[in-house]
Amino acid sequence: MVDTDWADEVRALARERDAVILAHNYQLPEIQDIADHTGDSLALSRLAAASEASTIVFCGVHFMAETAKILAPDKTVLIPDAAAGCSLADSITADQLRAWKAEHPGAVVVSYVNTTAEVKAETDICCTSSNAVDVVASIPADTEVLFCPDQFLGAHVKRLTGRDNMHIWAGECHVHAGINGDQLAERVAAVPGAELYIHPECGCATSALYLAGEGVVPAEKVKVLSTGDMATAARHTSATAVLVATEVGMLHQLRRAAPGVDFQAVNERASCRYMKMITPEKLLRSLREGTDEVDVPTATADAARAAVTRMISIGHPGGGE
Ligand code: 13P
Ligand code: SF4
Repeated sequence: MVDTDWADEVRALARERDAVILAHNYQLPEIQDIADHTGDSLALSRLAAASEASTIVFCGVHFMAETAKILAPDKTVLIPDAAAGCSLADSITADQLRAWKAEHPGAVVVSYVNTTAEVKAETDICCTSSNAVDVVASIPADTEVLFCPDQFLGAHVKRLTGRDNMHIWAGECHVHAGINGDQLAERVAAVPGAELYIHPECGCATSALYLAGEGVVPAEKVKVLSTGDMATAARHTSATAVLVATEVGMLHQLRRAAPGVDFQAVNERASCRYMKMITPEKLLRSLREGTDEVDVPTATADAARAAVTRMISIGHPGGGE
């Protein structure tokens, strides 16, 4: 239940600060509903780059706010809690990436947006779950690719591009890795006829394709999608039930997009504690006090900008509202 005083104060302070509020699809429902835009990583990065507001309040995790700062260095970027990290972004450091590059001279480095600014500064092209296949496909077929840090997204991209010269870092997101094939098979048996929306970071992505291959679920009902593309698919679906394999915050946006459809989580415990650190109270404090301000050292931001700019130029539009 949204407190109208809270919502009024957030809106008034945002106007006073000339701030745009961006929220990721995994945010708490109150935060998603008050935001100017809610969407996936790619859509929010594009919005940050294009916004005319002088301040961006990023309701998401730290690497997202850093990406906004890299794309819009002259703007003030705030995150309501700078301690909102990401286990996936923590799974590779800039030193580790430098050592990996030294083993593969001439390889093109593709890093998922879920990385620190220092890792982006060592990267040729960043990608998100929405455009990872397009980004890797844009690299000449005979050039080696180093893909980091998510092994499940990497496996998905390798499968779709058919590349055998793509090396994949063995990182993972603790929330998505915890959504496994056994849980998926159990939920599919319990909800016959349901469509499947699977985020490519999930541990169950290969199992979903296996279920399709075995004819357990018709192939056209299995969709591997970014969070923004899940919301788009929901607007067009004719299914009555959809099983959703991603962080549970996504269900709010899906139910808003298609109120008549029964959306169920494959794993109801798949909640990201970092995303949930952005509370209504902290958003208000952020707007009142101008906290927490995100800064990326100029040299790091300058070194990372080309990779992030290439990321937002590749792939289909959409992914946010
Ligand atoms: P997308 O919203 O880009 O699909 O990313 C999901 C994610 O894990 C963000 O932390
Ligand atoms: Fe990171 Fe996973 Fe949380 Fe997304 S859901 S922010 S990848 S820990």
